[in-house]
Amino acid sequence: METLSNVVEYAMEASEFAWEVAPGKTVTAWGLNQQVPGPVLKARKGDTLVVNVKNNLPEPTIIHWHGIRLPASMDGTGEVQKPIAPGEAFEYRFVVPDAGTFWYHSHANETVQMERGMYGALIVEDETDPVLDAERLLMIDDMKLTPAGEFKQGNFFGRFTERHDGREGDTLLINGKEGSVLEMAAGQTERWRFINAASARYFLLYLGGREFKIIGTDGGLLETPQTVTEVLITPGERVDIAAGPFAEGESFAIESLPYNRMTSFKPKRQQFATVQVGAPKPSVAFLPERLRTIAPLAPQDAPVTRQVKLSVGPSLKHGLDFLVNNDVHVNDEPVKVGELQVWEVFNASLMDHPFHLHGFFFQVIEENGNPPAYRAWKDTYNLKPRTRVKIAWMPDNRPGRWMYHCHILEHHAAGMMANFEVI
Ligand code: C2O
Ligand code: CU
Repeated sequence: METLSNVVEYAMEASEFAWEVAPGKTVTAWGLNQQVPGPVLKARKGDTLVVNVKNNLPEPTIIHWHGIRLPASMDGTGEVQKPIAPGEAFEYRFVVPDAGTFWYHSHANETVQMERGMYGALIVEDETDPVLDAERLLMIDDMKLTPAGEFKQGNFFGRFTERHDGREGDTLLINGKEGSVLEMAAGQTERWRFINAASARYFLLYLGGREFKIIGTDGGLLETPQTVTEVLITPGERVDIAAGPFAEGESFAIESLPYNRMTSFKPKRQQFATVQVGAPKPSVAFLPERLRTIAPLAPQDAPVTRQVKLSVGPSLKHGLDFLVNNDVHVNDEPVKVGELQVWEVFNASLMDHPFHLHGFFFQVIEENGNPPAYRAWKDTYNLKPRTRVKIAWMPDNRPGRWMYHCHILEHHAAGMMANFEVI
């Protein structure tokens, strides 16, 4: 009930500005409130978020709220909203029903607008969140710059490999900066919220072999923390970890290990930031063994209600297209409110694709015949080549036009997307 809900208001202005990614290294960015990422929007679960977006870019834009279960009219796609013309504004207003790490980004001319910086984080808190010593947001991105240190003009589609592989660049950013140094106190455990905002780059998080705990993902907390030394975060995905405690004087890199997503890029180990551990501070961190309960939506053998095939194939139009059920920019069948959806998503291609569903969370109930390692609420899930996953999701009472697509932005633009109605 919105009338009882606390209202949190923000104003954001999209514009072109000079952004310093490293001392003395400036690019002509497009972003919100003259920063990359845009402002961190914060709310509490159940709040009404009101965001006024003014567009001062030279072209239309639109803001999508990735992962938020909001009304279709607020989803920020060209299907449900007139793009915000230069000089115009639009007020987004919706309740944030779930706690977790979410984000917003341009959904217009994405391959250009997101590459240039049109994205930011939306953090939704709740009193059931575990208490750690501190919290940090780490938004991962990369930029591909010309030798002169600027963005290439045009829509980036000139080169076959870029269209096929997605764009990766060598300017590696955490929170819009190259080579950040993060200072942390010894003896403390922090919550680090990672968001992969890159066009195509996969981020295989690694802290030099140190163990950390995955505590949350796209749709909020997991049931139990998962102790690991690495975790894959594909474009669009979020991962929350508990990091620490570390010892005084330790220094280590936040890296991405090589991940082969089967493109022409040579997988490399790359450093995004450095952590320096200073003098100890007392810790109040308490991470329970059980974070919450996630009721299963459907058993592993639930009958499939829809097949979605992702593939890459020849087409007369472009030579090569990125396909959903053998077509580009598909209109898929409607789904009915209250009818459980069990979709078998099959990646028939020879490269990875992160599958993203707008507006609803799903649970992966099977992957290549096996149950998943743990239950989670997801909105983006990576499919390796020749992989078949079964996802279950429930269309609740939010009729309208929704979509799903590959979150490699170049693949989305090249046709690997579908719209459908919830009726
Ligand atoms: Cu982040 Cu259409 O998505
Ligand atoms: Cu893809």
